Amino acid sequence: MFSRLARPAISKCITQRTFTTSSKDSAKVAVLGASGGIGQPLSLLLKTSPAISQLSLYDIAHTPGVAADLSHIETPAKVSGHMGPDELDACLEGADVVLIPAGVPRKPGMTRDDLFNTNASIVLNLAKACARVCPNAILGIITNPVNSTVPIAAEVYKKMGVKGWEKRLFGVTTLDAVRANTFIAAARGVDVSKMGVPVIGGHSGVTIIPVISQATPTVSFPMEERKALTERIQNAGTEVVEAKAGAGSATLSMAFAAARFADKLLEALAGGIEQVECAYVKSDQTDATYFANPILLGKNGVEKNLGVGQMIEYEVGLVSAAMDELKSNIKKGEDFVAKNWS
Ligand SMILES: NC(=O)c1ccc[n+]([C@@H]2O[C@H](COP(=O)([O-])OP(=O)(O)OC[C@H]3O[C@@H](n4cnc5c(N)ncnc54)[C@H](O)[C@@H]3O)[C@@H](O)[C@H]2O)c1
Repeated sequence: MFSRLARPAISKCITQRTFTTSSKDSAKVAVLGASGGIGQPLSLLLKTSPAISQLSLYDIAHTPGVAADLSHIETPAKVSGHMGPDELDACLEGADVVLIPAGVPRKPGMTRDDLFNTNASIVLNLAKACARVCPNAILGIITNPVNSTVPIAAEVYKKMGVKGWEKRLFGVTTLDAVRANTFIAAARGVDVSKMGVPVIGGHSGVTIIPVISQATPTVSFPMEERKALTERIQNAGTEVVEAKAGAGSATLSMAFAAARFADKLLEALAGGIEQVECAYVKSDQTDATYFANPILLGKNGVEKNLGVGQMIEYEVGLVSAAMDELKSNIKKGEDFVAKNWS
């Protein structure tokens, strides 16, 4: 049935979803926040993955309907819906991968950090449940502000004594790479399916750092155009928030990006072809204790941190300019758990 979906595995940070014959065919994937703007299309895309045998959907509202709807699709993954905290453990039991898009999105005029007060406690509570029920699952956090919500989950895992979490905790920043590939391929007339642009740093404003000098295939731009493209990638989320005029932030492109991340992860977890994806992880690559850059994914999650690589002076300046904000976002997340732990 899936032969028409089969595509060659591609190990660069490029745009396609990849399904190969070696993909694990028995993974359980849980989506927390599954009824939302991202959660629904993400769950739909995951339902089309031949690597997933069980798709468990959790939300505080509407999950029975979303699950019933998806369960009619003629693909092998079994779908279950779980609504409200009493059903969270059942959703998480035996999960190999947990993706978290639960929480409020931005409205025009808001920064991602403005979401902190609401989303910090949502992520804290969901991470607690993951640490208790499926501590060995890979956790992919989509909820903003990602720069802070990943350190929140990490603090929870530390407090609950989960070992080896550093290899299994990811901030999903794939959308930044998806956008960079799209914009840069268009600017140079390159086939977007072959474009790979690493995006490093974090996932908000100046902390989003496209490393255009490392793009494959190689592209070159005059400095003004390079700056304009960099700023467009940094502000692309706001472009969507403004266009949606109060109806939320990126949902469809984010669902695609998270599905691509999940595909690569499942392929790597199954011991198939190792995959590379940019993601925000615990890091010693810079002064910031969490940092996004290309990660080699393997059987246990992070197989190897591939680091930031060679950059041109302009890009080195962007990294320096991001450091203060990134470090303060990380501290804010860590302090939140210290103050709110019970
Ligand atoms: N990482 C990224 O690149 C990226 C991109 C876009 C959006 N986001 C973020 O993703 C999050 C979700 O965005 P959205 O557009 O889907 O929002 P949404 O409001 O449409 O959906 C959020 C869902 O979370 C659910 N929810 C709320 N509290 C919950 C809880 N305690 N447990 C389980 N579910 C809960 C809601 O019921 C809702 O269904 C936001 O924080 C947004 O900023 C991240």
